[in-house]
Amino acid sequence: MNAIITGGAGFIGSYLSKELIQRGFNIAIWDNLFRGKYSNIKELLDENNLFFNIDMSKYENIGQMADLLLTNEPEYIFHYAAINGTQYFYDIPATVLETNANITYNLMLALREAKRRQNTFHTKIIYASSSEVYGEPLSLPSKETDITYVVTSHIRDSYAAAKLIGEFYVKLISEELGLEWITLRLFNVYGPKMIGTKYGQVIPEFIKRLSEGEYPLSVYGNGEHMRSFCYVTDNVNNTIELALSSTKNEIFNIGNDHEISILELGTLIMEKMQLTPKFIFLPEREGDHKRRCPDTTKIHAVIGPRKYISLEDGLEMMLGKH
Ligand SMILES: NC(=O)c1ccc[n+]([C@@H]2O[C@H](COP(=O)([O-])OP(=O)(O)OC[C@H]3O[C@@H](n4cnc5c(N)ncnc54)[C@H](O)[C@@H]3O)[C@@H](O)[C@H]2O)c1
Repeated sequence: MNAIITGGAGFIGSYLSKELIQRGFNIAIWDNLFRGKYSNIKELLDENNLFFNIDMSKYENIGQMADLLLTNEPEYIFHYAAINGTQYFYDIPATVLETNANITYNLMLALREAKRRQNTFHTKIIYASSSEVYGEPLSLPSKETDITYVVTSHIRDSYAAAKLIGEFYVKLISEELGLEWITLRLFNVYGPKMIGTKYGQVIPEFIKRLSEGEYPLSVYGNGEHMRSFCYVTDNVNNTIELALSSTKNEIFNIGNDHEISILELGTLIMEKMQLTPKFIFLPEREGDHKRRCPDTTKIHAVIGPRKYISLEDGLEMMLGKH
């Protein structure tokens, strides 16, 4: 079986690519290495598993993408390419909105072009949306049927807005073309290889800052924000099993529903690094959601019950203690 993984040189995409190969897939990775790294995928590549350096946000690349779709004939497209990293949503919100919306639009236009050229073309698209589309959740844990919304005065929501536009493009254009789709709303994923700079995510960022001597650890707001973190291999295995199931044309939350505050997270990391927990509190970031936790009933009804890697064990793997 063949699969295309857009954003496959990135954090989640590279784990997904590796797992798909292990399950017997031939893969093609599309990525422009904006935040992804060639070193994440180098060892995966051979004559059956290919990498294409392609900027999917550029309209002029749609023809090339359509060519690749028809050559590769993927049974599955895992669509993960996007500008991700919370600090980007604050620093370059217009670019985040435009790039992320265009990446998904251009993929769908390439699919339309492939279908126009070859009417028998068929695939199933698995789209990585985000828990950010629930905004500040009106009820918790968030269910797929809950209201999604963005606040246009909060620049952070540039990312959520593009994810929501992407959800529409994937659903409406796939259905127009008779293709299958699944939208996944990912709740915080973490694991080794994740970027620890200020353009990365909270767990590797805390570890990097502490290991570089930033102590006490600074956190935004009062640290009482709650998040739920899912170890990357749990995310990837559940994604593949859902994709391979007969389920189609539906939205699913994907994540670990164990909640923890940012202060508790920082405390846990500092303890594991043999540091006495100490914090500095920075001003709150505008539009930062106070809580985020998935209701995972829907995905487990399809893939069955799952045991998740605990945050304690996941952190130890990140700190190289396992
Ligand atoms: N990591 C999380 O906790 C999380 C949570 C919710 C949603 N998501 C979504 O899951 C996907 C993967 O996230 P990740 O954490 O692995 O991020 P990542 O930044 O590591 O991966 C995204 C990849 O997309 C690539 N990319 C960016 N712009 C591109 C372009 N114009 N053309 C082609 N490729 C481009 C990047 O180079 C990168 O390799 C993203 O769509 C992200 O929004 C992730």
